[in-house]
Amino acid sequence: MPDIVYLNGKFMPIEEAHVPVLDRGFIFGDGVYEVVPVYSRRAFRLAEHLRRLQYSLDKIRITNPHSDAEWAALIAEIVKRHDGEDQSIYFQVTRGVAKRDHAFPKGIKPTVFMMSNPLVTPSPAVVESGVACISAVDYRWLNCDIKSVSLLGNCMLRQLSADVGATETILFRDGKLTEASSSNVFIVKDSVVLTPPKDHLVLPGITYDVVLEIARAREFEVEVRGVTEGEVRSADEIWLTSSTKEVLAVTTLDGKPVGDGKPGPLFRRMHALYQQFKQEHMRAAA
Ligand code: PDD
Repeated sequence: MPDIVYLNGKFMPIEEAHVPVLDRGFIFGDGVYEVVPVYSRRAFRLAEHLRRLQYSLDKIRITNPHSDAEWAALIAEIVKRHDGEDQSIYFQVTRGVAKRDHAFPKGIKPTVFMMSNPLVTPSPAVVESGVACISAVDYRWLNCDIKSVSLLGNCMLRQLSADVGATETILFRDGKLTEASSSNVFIVKDSVVLTPPKDHLVLPGITYDVVLEIARAREFEVEVRGVTEGEVRSADEIWLTSSTKEVLAVTTLDGKPVGDGKPGPLFRRMHALYQQFKQEHMRAAA
Protein backbone atom coordinates (compact mmCIF):
# COMPACT_ATOMS: atom_id res chain seq x y z
CA MET A 1 0.00 0.00 0.00
CA PRO A 2 1.62 3.36 -0.98
CA ASP A 3 1.99 5.82 1.88
CA ILE A 4 -0.88 8.27 1.42
CA VAL A 5 -0.59 11.82 2.72
CA TYR A 6 -2.90 14.82 2.55
CA LEU A 7 -1.82 18.09 0.96
CA ASN A 8 -4.04 21.11 0.25
CA GLY A 9 -7.33 19.33 -0.38
CA LYS A 10 -6.09 16.03 -1.83
CA PHE A 11 -4.94 12.64 -0.62
CA MET A 12 -1.98 11.38 -2.66
CA PRO A 13 1.07 9.08 -2.47
CA ILE A 14 3.83 10.80 -0.49
CA GLU A 15 6.10 10.80 -3.58
CA GLU A 16 3.61 13.07 -5.33
CA ALA A 17 3.25 15.58 -2.49
CA HIS A 18 5.28 18.69 -3.31
CA VAL A 19 5.37 22.16 -1.79
CA PRO A 20 6.72 25.22 -3.65
CA VAL A 21 10.14 26.37 -2.41
CA LEU A 22 8.72 29.79 -1.49
CA ASP A 23 6.35 28.26 1.05
CA ARG A 24 6.95 30.26 4.23
CA GLY A 25 7.13 27.01 6.18
CA PHE A 26 10.27 26.17 4.17
CA ILE A 27 11.74 29.70 4.10
CA PHE A 28 10.91 30.91 7.64
CA GLY A 29 9.55 27.93 9.60
CA ASP A 30 6.36 30.04 9.57
CA GLY A 31 3.70 27.58 10.65
CA VAL A 32 2.29 25.45 13.43
CA TYR A 33 1.57 21.76 13.88
CA GLU A 34 -0.09 19.07 15.94
CA VAL A 35 0.59 15.41 16.70
CA VAL A 36 -2.52 13.42 17.64
CA PRO A 37 -2.23 9.83 18.88
CA VAL A 38 -4.74 7.34 17.49
CA TYR A 39 -5.49 4.20 19.50
CA SER A 40 -7.54 1.36 17.99
CA ARG A 41 -8.19 3.69 15.04
CA ARG A 42 -9.69 6.44 17.24
CA ALA A 43 -8.11 9.83 17.86
CA PHE A 44 -7.32 10.44 21.53
CA ARG A 45 -8.23 13.88 22.98
CA LEU A 46 -8.91 15.32 19.53
CA ALA A 47 -10.98 18.29 20.77
CA GLU A 48 -8.07 19.35 23.01
CA HIS A 49 -5.53 19.05 20.15
CA LEU A 50 -7.77 21.12 17.87
CA ARG A 51 -8.19 23.74 20.59
CA ARG A 52 -4.40 23.98 20.93
CA LEU A 53 -4.06 24.22 17.12
CA GLN A 54 -6.48 27.15 17.15
CA TYR A 55 -4.47 28.78 19.96
CA SER A 56 -1.20 28.41 17.98
CA LEU A 57 -2.82 29.72 14.78
CA ASP A 58 -4.31 32.72 16.63
CA LYS A 59 -0.92 33.53 18.14
CA ILE A 60 0.76 33.69 14.73
CA ARG A 61 -2.26 35.24 13.00
CA ILE A 62 -3.13 32.52 10.51
CA THR A 63 -6.85 31.95 9.91
CA ASN A 64 -7.72 28.34 10.62
CA PRO A 65 -8.29 26.84 7.15
CA HIS A 66 -10.69 24.19 8.55
CA SER A 67 -13.49 23.84 11.04
CA ASP A 68 -13.07 21.26 13.80
CA ALA A 69 -15.52 18.99 11.94
CA GLU A 70 -13.40 19.25 8.79
CA TRP A 71 -10.20 18.47 10.71
CA ALA A 72 -11.90 15.49 12.33
CA ALA A 73 -13.04 14.23 8.91
CA LEU A 74 -9.52 14.60 7.44
CA ILE A 75 -8.01 12.71 10.36
CA ALA A 76 -10.65 9.97 10.09
CA GLU A 77 -9.87 9.65 6.38
CA ILE A 78 -6.10 9.42 6.78
CA VAL A 79 -6.56 6.83 9.54
CA LYS A 80 -8.80 4.83 7.19
CA ARG A 81 -6.11 4.91 4.51
CA HIS A 82 -3.52 3.33 6.84
CA ASP A 83 -3.39 -0.20 8.24
CA GLY A 84 -2.19 0.27 11.80
CA GLU A 85 -4.55 0.18 14.76
CA ASP A 86 -2.40 2.77 16.55
CA GLN A 87 -1.23 5.74 14.50
CA SER A 88 0.45 9.08 15.09
CA ILE A 89 -1.22 11.77 13.00
CA TYR A 90 1.00 14.74 12.20
CA PHE A 91 -0.51 17.83 10.60
CA GLN A 92 0.75 21.30 9.98
CA VAL A 93 -0.49 24.61 8.67
CA THR A 94 2.05 27.02 7.20
CA ARG A 95 1.28 30.57 6.14
CA GLY A 96 1.53 29.72 2.45
CA VAL A 97 3.57 30.69 -0.59
CA ALA A 98 4.78 34.26 -1.19
CA LYS A 99 7.82 36.23 -2.31
CA ARG A 100 10.32 36.24 0.57
CA ASP A 101 9.55 39.12 2.94
CA HIS A 102 9.54 38.89 6.73
CA ALA A 103 6.21 40.70 7.21
CA PHE A 104 3.11 38.53 6.84
CA PRO A 105 1.83 38.73 3.25
CA LYS A 106 -1.88 39.42 2.77
CA GLY A 107 -4.36 37.24 0.93
CA ILE A 108 -2.37 34.01 0.63
CA LYS A 109 -3.74 30.53 1.25
CA PRO A 110 -2.24 28.47 4.08
CA THR A 111 -0.56 25.20 3.12
CA VAL A 112 -2.09 22.21 4.89
CA PHE A 113 -0.21 18.93 5.18
CA MET A 114 -1.11 15.75 7.06
CA MET A 115 0.54 12.35 7.40
CA SER A 116 0.17 9.20 9.45
CA ASN A 117 2.98 7.20 11.01
CA PRO A 118 2.73 4.11 13.18
CA LEU A 119 2.31 5.16 16.81
CA VAL A 120 5.29 3.67 18.64
CA THR A 121 4.80 4.04 22.37
CA PRO A 122 7.54 2.88 24.81
CA SER A 123 7.86 -0.92 24.95
CA PRO A 124 6.99 -2.74 28.21
CA ALA A 125 10.75 -3.27 28.74
CA VAL A 126 11.43 0.49 28.51
CA VAL A 127 8.48 1.29 30.78
CA GLU A 128 9.95 -1.22 33.26
CA SER A 129 13.54 0.04 33.07
CA GLY A 130 12.96 3.79 32.65
CA VAL A 131 15.18 5.98 30.49
CA ALA A 132 18.32 8.09 30.72
CA CYS A 133 18.16 11.86 30.25
CA ILE A 134 20.66 14.66 30.26
CA SER A 135 20.03 18.32 31.05
CA ALA A 136 20.83 21.57 29.27
CA VAL A 137 20.13 25.27 29.48
CA ASP A 138 16.85 26.13 27.75
CA TYR A 139 17.98 28.72 25.20
CA ARG A 140 14.83 28.58 23.07
CA TRP A 141 12.70 31.66 22.39
CA LEU A 142 10.05 33.02 24.75
CA ASN A 143 7.02 31.71 22.84
CA CYS A 144 7.35 28.02 23.64
CA ASP A 145 3.56 27.85 24.13
CA ILE A 146 3.15 28.08 20.34
CA LYS A 147 3.42 24.66 18.72
CA SER A 148 5.59 26.07 15.97
CA VAL A 149 7.21 24.08 13.18
CA SER A 150 10.32 26.23 13.83
CA LEU A 151 11.92 23.58 16.01
CA LEU A 152 15.63 24.23 15.48
CA GLY A 153 16.22 24.99 19.18
CA ASN A 154 14.36 21.83 20.20
CA CYS A 155 16.24 19.74 17.60
CA MET A 156 19.65 21.07 18.70
CA LEU A 157 18.81 20.39 22.34
CA ARG A 158 17.45 16.92 21.57
CA GLN A 159 20.63 16.12 19.64
CA LEU A 160 22.69 16.65 22.81
CA SER A 161 20.93 13.67 24.41
CA ALA A 162 20.94 11.66 21.17
CA ASP A 163 24.74 12.12 21.02
CA VAL A 164 25.13 10.22 24.31
CA GLY A 165 22.38 7.66 23.67
CA ALA A 166 19.92 9.30 26.10
CA THR A 167 16.16 9.64 25.51
CA GLU A 168 15.55 13.30 26.25
CA THR A 169 17.16 16.61 27.20
CA ILE A 170 15.57 18.16 30.28
CA LEU A 171 15.72 21.95 30.17
CA PHE A 172 16.37 24.61 32.81
CA ARG A 173 15.90 28.33 32.34
CA ASP A 174 17.19 30.70 35.03
CA GLY A 175 17.49 27.82 37.50
CA LYS A 176 13.94 26.56 36.92
CA LEU A 177 12.61 23.50 35.12
CA THR A 178 10.76 24.27 31.88
CA GLU A 179 10.19 21.01 29.95
CA ALA A 180 12.22 18.63 27.77
CA SER A 181 13.05 18.97 24.07
CA SER A 182 9.82 17.23 23.01
CA SER A 183 8.04 16.32 26.26
CA ASN A 184 6.71 17.88 29.44
CA VAL A 185 8.32 16.99 32.77
CA PHE A 186 6.90 16.07 36.18
CA ILE A 187 8.84 15.28 39.35
CA VAL A 188 7.88 13.56 42.59
CA LYS A 189 9.33 14.65 45.94
CA ASP A 190 8.13 13.22 49.23
CA SER A 191 5.04 11.79 47.45
CA VAL A 192 4.05 15.17 45.99
CA VAL A 193 3.74 15.41 42.21
CA LEU A 194 5.22 18.70 40.97
CA THR A 195 5.19 20.29 37.53
CA PRO A 196 5.66 23.81 36.17
CA PRO A 197 2.56 25.79 35.16
CA LYS A 198 1.54 26.22 31.53
CA ASP A 199 3.01 29.57 30.52
CA HIS A 200 5.00 30.98 27.60
CA LEU A 201 8.05 28.88 28.54
CA VAL A 202 6.48 25.46 27.88
CA LEU A 203 4.29 23.74 25.37
CA PRO A 204 0.85 23.19 26.93
CA GLY A 205 0.95 19.42 26.59
CA ILE A 206 -2.24 17.46 26.05
CA THR A 207 -0.70 14.52 27.91
CA TYR A 208 0.35 16.90 30.71
CA ASP A 209 -3.33 17.79 31.14
CA VAL A 210 -4.39 14.13 31.12
CA VAL A 211 -1.78 13.25 33.75
CA LEU A 212 -2.87 16.16 35.97
CA GLU A 213 -6.52 15.21 35.51
CA ILE A 214 -5.81 11.61 36.55
CA ALA A 215 -3.58 12.71 39.45
CA ARG A 216 -6.26 15.01 40.86
CA ALA A 217 -9.09 12.51 40.33
CA ARG A 218 -7.10 9.80 42.13
CA GLU A 219 -6.07 12.09 44.96
CA PHE A 220 -2.36 12.23 44.31
CA GLU A 221 -0.94 15.26 46.07
CA VAL A 222 -0.25 17.71 43.23
CA GLU A 223 1.44 21.11 43.08
CA VAL A 224 1.60 23.10 39.84
CA ARG A 225 4.28 25.71 40.49
CA GLY A 226 7.81 26.74 39.58
CA VAL A 227 10.19 23.81 40.11
CA THR A 228 13.84 24.56 40.79
CA GLU A 229 16.79 22.79 39.21
CA GLY A 230 17.79 21.65 42.72
CA GLU A 231 14.37 20.04 43.23
CA VAL A 232 14.72 18.16 39.94
CA ARG A 233 18.22 16.96 40.81
CA SER A 234 17.08 15.68 44.22
CA ALA A 235 13.71 14.34 43.05
CA ASP A 236 12.51 10.87 44.06
CA GLU A 237 11.01 10.40 40.59
CA ILE A 238 11.07 12.22 37.25
CA TRP A 239 8.47 11.58 34.52
CA LEU A 240 8.32 12.61 30.88
CA THR A 241 4.94 13.02 29.20
CA SER A 242 4.00 13.35 25.53
CA SER A 243 1.49 12.00 23.03
CA THR A 244 4.00 9.41 21.80
CA LYS A 245 5.88 8.68 25.06
CA GLU A 246 2.69 8.70 27.19
CA VAL A 247 4.16 8.67 30.73
CA LEU A 248 7.73 7.49 31.02
CA ALA A 249 10.05 7.30 34.04
CA VAL A 250 13.49 8.93 33.95
CA THR A 251 15.90 6.77 35.91
CA THR A 252 19.15 8.66 35.35
CA LEU A 253 19.76 12.38 34.90
CA ASP A 254 23.23 13.40 33.70
CA GLY A 255 24.48 9.92 34.59
CA LYS A 256 23.22 10.03 38.21
CA PRO A 257 20.39 7.79 39.43
CA VAL A 258 16.99 9.40 40.03
CA GLY A 259 15.77 8.18 43.45
CA ASP A 260 16.86 4.56 43.71
CA GLY A 261 17.47 4.41 39.95
CA LYS A 262 14.26 2.49 39.20
CA PRO A 263 10.83 3.72 38.08
CA GLY A 264 9.14 4.79 41.31
CA PRO A 265 5.85 3.75 42.92
CA LEU A 266 3.92 6.86 41.88
CA PHE A 267 5.09 6.41 38.29
CA ARG A 268 3.92 2.80 38.29
CA ARG A 269 0.52 3.84 39.59
CA MET A 270 0.21 6.73 37.12
CA HIS A 271 1.33 4.56 34.19
CA ALA A 272 -1.34 1.96 34.98
CA LEU A 273 -4.01 4.65 35.45
CA TYR A 274 -3.03 6.27 32.15
CA GLN A 275 -3.46 2.95 30.31
CA GLN A 276 -6.85 2.50 31.99
CA PHE A 277 -7.87 6.06 31.09
CA LYS A 278 -7.01 5.38 27.41
CA GLN A 279 -9.07 2.18 27.38
CA GLU A 280 -12.06 3.99 28.88
CA HIS A 281 -11.69 6.80 26.36
CA MET A 282 -11.63 4.34 23.48
CA ARG A 283 -14.69 2.53 24.77
CA ALA A 284 -16.54 5.83 25.21
CA ALA A 285 -15.63 6.89 21.65
CA ALA A 286 -16.80 3.55 20.14
N1 PDD B 1 5.91 16.83 20.95
N2 PDD B 1 6.82 19.85 24.93
C1 PDD B 1 7.33 19.88 23.68
C2 PDD B 1 8.42 20.83 23.37
C3 PDD B 1 6.81 19.01 22.70
O1 PDD B 1 7.30 19.04 21.45
C4 PDD B 1 5.77 18.08 23.06
C5 PDD B 1 5.16 17.15 22.06
C6 PDD B 1 5.29 18.09 24.37
C7 PDD B 1 4.17 17.19 24.82
O2 PDD B 1 2.93 17.58 24.27
P1 PDD B 1 1.74 16.54 24.03
O3 PDD B 1 1.49 15.87 25.32
O4 PDD B 1 0.62 17.37 23.57
O5 PDD B 1 2.24 15.56 22.99
C8 PDD B 1 5.83 19.00 25.27
C9 PDD B 1 5.31 16.08 19.88
C10 PDD B 1 4.83 14.71 20.26
C11 PDD B 1 6.24 16.10 18.69
O6 PDD B 1 6.74 17.18 18.39
O7 PDD B 1 6.43 15.07 18.01
